[in-house]
Amino acid sequence: MTVISQQAYSASDLVTPFRYAKGQVLFEKNCSSCHGVTMTGTDKGPPLMHAFYKPSHHGDGSFYRAGLKGVKAHHWNFGDMPPVPGMSESKMKSIVPYIRFYQQAKKLY
Ligand code: HEC
Repeated sequence: MTVISQQAYSASDLVTPFRYAKGQVLFEKNCSSCHGVTMTGTDKGPPLMHAFYKPSHHGDGSFYRAGLKGVKAHHWNFGDMPPVPGMSESKMKSIVPYIRFYQQAKKLY
């Protein structure tokens, strides 16, 4: 059983239900350096809290592809997203629902 530190919870501005906690830890470790802990973007990557990234515009499949294979720059001027080292389908199965939870909790859709 994975022990999730208090630190991981306090990094976000939401209280994460336990079922998304693993996804949060993985997101913060692998994605937040570019997309931001609160998914509002950084100088290295775009916000995922953006109408582009609603399920109706970028379905879960594009999230899996991004995490596993990277993305060629097309919407923004941040450059390409490189494939994320050590990423796996099973990790993405935790990360994608966490992102969707967060987007919905923040009323993106
Ligand atoms: C090194 C920086 C970096 C990291 C780390 C990173 N991304 Fe990205 N990501 C980017 C950039 C830059 C883009 C924008 C590409 C573009 O111009 O459309 C992007 C785009 C995306 C997109 C849009 C995909 C599309 O089809 O347009 C998704 C979804 C995404 N990232 C998810 C993730 C997830 C999930 C993780 C962690 C597993 C992650 N990213 C880690 C930099 C990063």
